[in-house]
Amino acid sequence: MISLRNVNKAFGRVQAVRDVSLEIAKGEFFSLLGASGSGKTTLLRMIAGFESVTSGKILIDGQEIQDSPPHLRPINMVFQNYAIFPHLNVRDNIAYGLQRLGTPKAEQARMVDAMLEMIALPGYGDRRATQLSGGQMQRVALARALILKPKVLLLDEPLGALDKQLREQMQLELRSLQRQLGITFILVTHDQEEALTLSDRVAVMENGAVIQVDTPAGLYDHPTNRAVAAFVGSMNFFDATVHGQGDAYRAEIAGLGPQRLNGQAGARQDGARVLVAIRPESLTLSPTAPEAPQPSVQGRITARQYMGGRQMLHVAVEGRAAPVAVSIVAQRGDDPWDGSEGRPVWLTWGPGAISLLDAE
Ligand SMILES: Nc1ncnc2c1ncn2[C@@H]1O[C@H](COP(=O)(O)OP(=O)(O)O)[C@@H](O)[C@H]1O
Ligand SMILES: [Mg+2]
Repeated sequence: MISLRNVNKAFGRVQAVRDVSLEIAKGEFFSLLGASGSGKTTLLRMIAGFESVTSGKILIDGQEIQDSPPHLRPINMVFQNYAIFPHLNVRDNIAYGLQRLGTPKAEQARMVDAMLEMIALPGYGDRRATQLSGGQMQRVALARALILKPKVLLLDEPLGALDKQLREQMQLELRSLQRQLGITFILVTHDQEEALTLSDRVAVMENGAVIQVDTPAGLYDHPTNRAVAAFVGSMNFFDATVHGQGDAYRAEIAGLGPQRLNGQAGARQDGARVLVAIRPESLTLSPTAPEAPQPSVQGRITARQYMGGRQMLHVAVEGRAAPVAVSIVAQRGDDPWDGSEGRPVWLTWGPGAISLLDAE
C-alpha cells in the first residue's frame, strides 16, 4: 500500500535519510525503530509531506505522492507532545478536522460520540483540554486524527512522554484500536520493547539507513548484523572462525571452543572470520559438568544482577575478555545461585542457540 523507493533526505551536509526502500501493507502495524538521530522522524515527516524528499519516490496505492501537499495525502499524524488545542474542549478538539471539512453538525456529534467511546473517554466531551492527564490528552490527539479515517496514521513517539505504567496500558489500547479500525499504522520509537510488542513488522534504522526489516520474532531470532542484534534485546558476541566444508562445518569460538554448525555457515569459506551471537536466555548454567555430547564450557560467576523476575549472571570463561551474560528466571523465594560467586560453573547451550553474523 505504501512504497518508499530509494528515499533520501539531506539537510545541507547532514544525510538524515539514506536510500530507504520499504513496502508497507494495508492494515499493517509497522514500526521504525532506531536510536535518537537515526532519521526516523525525518522519514515519517517525508511520508506526511511536512518535509520534501531530496530524491526518491513515495507511493500510496500506486500513486506518487512525494510532491503533494500534506492535506492532499490520505495520511494523518500524531506527535509526541500532545498537539491538542488548549482553548478548546475535548469535543471540539476531536471534531476539529470535521469542522474544517464542513461535515454537518449532527453528523459531527454522532462521530465524536463514537470516538469518545472508542478511546474510553465517554462523558469527557465538555472537559477542557487543560483538565486532562497526559494519557487522556494523547487519546484525544489519537481520536482527532482517527476521526478523519485516514488510510495511514503516522505516530511519532506518541507514548514517549508517558510514565511506564500508562505507556504499557496505552500500547495495548493502540494495538486494539489499530486492529479494530484496520488502518495502516507507522510508529516511530526508540523503545525496542514497544516496537516488538506492537508491530507486525519493524524496520531498524541506523545512521539514516534501514539495516533490517523483519517481524519481531525474525529480528530477535535472526538478526542479520551486530547493530540489530545488540539493539533488540541483549546479546553475547564471540569472535569465531569457520572451518571445514560441506556438512562438516564447525566454528572455533573464542571462549567456548569448537562447535558444530548445522548449515549455518552458508557460503562462507574455510577460515572465514565470523561473529557468533548467543542470547543470555539461550545459555544454561549447571553446577556440575554436563554429559557429552552437549557442548559446555567451564567458567566462574563474577557478578549477579537482579532484574525483576530474572537474574543476569556474569560468567568469566577462559579465552575471552568480557564475561558471558546468562539470564535465568528466578522463582519467588528461590535463589539457586545464592553464594555462588567465584565457584566453578558449566555453561551449556543447545544447537539453536547460535547465530552467525559477518565479522566487521
Ligand atoms: N530540520 C533539520 N535541519 C538540519 N538537520 C536536521 C533537521 N531535522 C533533522 N536533522 C538531522 O537529521 C538527523 C536525523 O534526525 P531525526 O530524523 O530527527 O532522527 P530521529 O527521529 O531518529 O531521532 C539528525 O542528525 C538531525 O540532527
Ligand atoms: Mg524523532
